[in-house]
Amino acid sequence: MDKDAEKIIKEAQEKLENATDLESLDQIYIELFGKNSDLNKLTKKISNLSKEQRPKAGQAINKAKKRLEKLFEETKSKLITYHLSLITSVDVSAPGKKTEIGHLHLVSQAIEEIVEIFSKLGFFLQSYPEIDWDWYAFESLNMPKGHPARDEWETFFIKSPFHPKLGSQVLTPHTSNGQVREMQRLKKPPIRMINIARCYRRQIDVSHTPMFHQFEGLLIDKKVSIPDLKGTFDFFTANFFGPNRQTRLRPHHFRFTEPSFEVDITCDICEGIGCRMCKSGWLELGGAGMVHPKVLSAGNIDPNVYTGFAFGWGIERTISMKTKIPDIRLLYQSDIRFLEQF
Ligand code: PHE
Repeated sequence: MDKDAEKIIKEAQEKLENATDLESLDQIYIELFGKNSDLNKLTKKISNLSKEQRPKAGQAINKAKKRLEKLFEETKSKLITYHLSLITSVDVSAPGKKTEIGHLHLVSQAIEEIVEIFSKLGFFLQSYPEIDWDWYAFESLNMPKGHPARDEWETFFIKSPFHPKLGSQVLTPHTSNGQVREMQRLKKPPIRMINIARCYRRQIDVSHTPMFHQFEGLLIDKKVSIPDLKGTFDFFTANFFGPNRQTRLRPHHFRFTEPSFEVDITCDICEGIGCRMCKSGWLELGGAGMVHPKVLSAGNIDPNVYTGFAFGWGIERTISMKTKIPDIRLLYQSDIRFLEQF
């Protein structure tokens, strides 16, 4: 046994002396201490020895193992010191490599900003399903099945189970599906909800992408009136776009608000006078209005006691009015040259 151990150590010494880098050292480690190492094979032989011989043999192997470990560690630290000595000098005055720091996507930045502005007015951020029942997306909003007003929402229908009351499922074409859901969730006003979600419509051009984001506001309480709605927009506009932009309400029609408006903001180039970009001096932000009594009833809220307003605007559109993006599809092309500008 002693002789065998001696031989193993001698061979290991040779191997270690020839090692020139740390990778080859890893290999040697496996050869010396792994399952198929000579040392391991020798250990297995102990069982063939007589009872009297075994302790002595065990001691010899242990001793050899310790010796091998020491040799190995010595070689390793020698190699490390050698490699370090090759790096002769470090120029501490040389300019460092700057790490590129990323930032949130423009849409995420806008979402954070919008939530912060509305939270100052007491609106709470809520989320609802982005695949929702027809009833929440249309019917509860006073758009019965087959009503032509639905055409404007160029909806993606999906294969889904049919529910006798709720109908089939759609990819939400607007965030207004959250209106009745919020009324059902809170059961009783006051309601101050802001809902930001992905929406889907079958359209694509410079100002539309099939997936986009909307933010929807809903406020329901006693004695809510149109000046409250206008005041909310003025607060948002001043905070999001700056103090020089004005908003106006233009009569419009939505089935789920009465009266309904389209909200416009003064063009930032001509400040409302009219220019080649905007023509009239105003740019359209999105829809709004006083919540229709039928929608309140669908949410089990008594329209004789409560009134409310709602609005829903596209985030991409709102961003493009602040940062003059010529084509909103750029937002989703993941082109770093575009994204890093913001
Ligand atoms: N949901 C409407 C749209 O997508 C916007 C809207 C929301 C209008 C709330 C009125 C009230 O165009």
